[in-house]
Amino acid sequence: RRSPPGSFVIFGGGGDLTHRLLLPAIYNLACADLLDDGFSVIAVDRADLTDAQLRQNMHAALEDFVARRGAEAVALRNDVWTWLEPRISYVRGDFETEQTYQDIAAAIGERNCIFYLAVAARFFGPIVDRLGEAGLVTEGRNTFRRVVVEKPFGHDLPSAIALNTRLLNTLDEQQIYRIDHYLGKETVQNILALRFSNGFFEPLWNRQNIDHVQITAAETVGVEQRAKFYEGTGAVRDMVPNHVMQLLAMTAMEAPISFDADAVRNEKTKVLDAIHTLAPGDVVRGQYAAGVVGGKDVPGYRQEPGVDPHSLTETYAAMKFQIDNWRWAGVPFYVRTGKRLAARKTEIAIHFKSAPYALFRDTPVESLTPNIMVIHIQPTEGVTLQFSAKIPGPAVRLGGVRMKFDYAEWFSEGPSTGYETLIYDCMIGDATLFQRADNIEAGWRAVQPILDWGQDGRTLAPYAAGSEGPAAADVLLARDNRHWLKIG
Ligand code: BG6
Repeated sequence: RRSPPGSFVIFGGGGDLTHRLLLPAIYNLACADLLDDGFSVIAVDRADLTDAQLRQNMHAALEDFVARRGAEAVALRNDVWTWLEPRISYVRGDFETEQTYQDIAAAIGERNCIFYLAVAARFFGPIVDRLGEAGLVTEGRNTFRRVVVEKPFGHDLPSAIALNTRLLNTLDEQQIYRIDHYLGKETVQNILALRFSNGFFEPLWNRQNIDHVQITAAETVGVEQRAKFYEGTGAVRDMVPNHVMQLLAMTAMEAPISFDADAVRNEKTKVLDAIHTLAPGDVVRGQYAAGVVGGKDVPGYRQEPGVDPHSLTETYAAMKFQIDNWRWAGVPFYVRTGKRLAARKTEIAIHFKSAPYALFRDTPVESLTPNIMVIHIQPTEGVTLQFSAKIPGPAVRLGGVRMKFDYAEWFSEGPSTGYETLIYDCMIGDATLFQRADNIEAGWRAVQPILDWGQDGRTLAPYAAGSEGPAAADVLLARDNRHWLKIG
């Protein structure tokens, strides 16, 4: 079904996010014939550009996007560009001046409208205030006005609450679409499909059968060009209250009563609210030192351009979460995330309890292959199950085997940016994949103890770039007689 007609107004429409992700996503939606003929894109930014120049830049960005598909590269579809081009226009203006909003009002008229804030977080509040003052977010009887915001949504619990309060001064909760780009990933959306559209996982999905869960979001990249942002942020704020908490919530939540936005979001908040307050011994913070990544020598974090040589910012964090509810009491959720690790890998590993006793006399229970179900989020997309099987031959010997579902093998969808579904859902008014105010706050609440302890240099464990992370993170599990799955 095609989206309803309306304007997609992008604040920061001349910027990187727009060119790299938003426009390609819109192009993909157009290719799939999901946009109405009454659709238009209005880019708002401060640079001096004409409509023609903007369209040229966007055309170049799309050429880049299709070329990035590598071996699967296909040419930019001319029919689609011909359709899209005249629907793109530019409003030049400062985000804080009234005139800009008058110009936007003239461009959108009484139409449906989505305001996408592809701008630095400090503009979120001011832009929404001004949209309100200009009457641009007042919905008509048959028209909607929605605002999309993306992380960073605050830098701790109090600032997240303050931002929610500010937005809610002007907007209704139903008008706010808070994006977590992890929810745009097919593999993340699939967690709920896997759990709740199959009969055989859910009966096992509890403390009786699951020993523990490991959630990993490992990257090989370093701080890249983002030292200024990252120095004041660090791995905990950057990844845990948002992306990692989404993975945890989808893995641990109860079955919602439907797939309605609020039904799903209620359950997510409930499980995040059940997280036991972290203690210092449950957390390891690390920082990468020089090392080797992909066969290349790379500098340590403190040697990266723009980073304080005495920086105490963590580039790695591991923690043990406990969920205080009937389903999960006593089942630790170990999570880790970091930059400059041995491989790029995001996955959720469900470690089941082992068989209760050694029926196979020569194979003690401890040496049975652990039963692990791994939900591979990226770069591999799929699910594997690991279990024991009899090795062929006259003697009874057991070995570990793996059963595998691979997205690429089953589905031949072309690559997407991850924003297609999110943008389309916002257009049709489905907020299931967006975060409600209480979800955001619950994520911050879970990590707030770490932020309250402050930056303590002594608890910052170094690790070599390209490694599995700091030794202290291994101790976190070894203490419980467990160990991490290997990243690299
Ligand atoms: C972003 C973080 O939100 O997520 C980045 O700011 C991180 O530091 C990125 O690299 C990871 O996203 P993905 O989709 O590559 O896992």
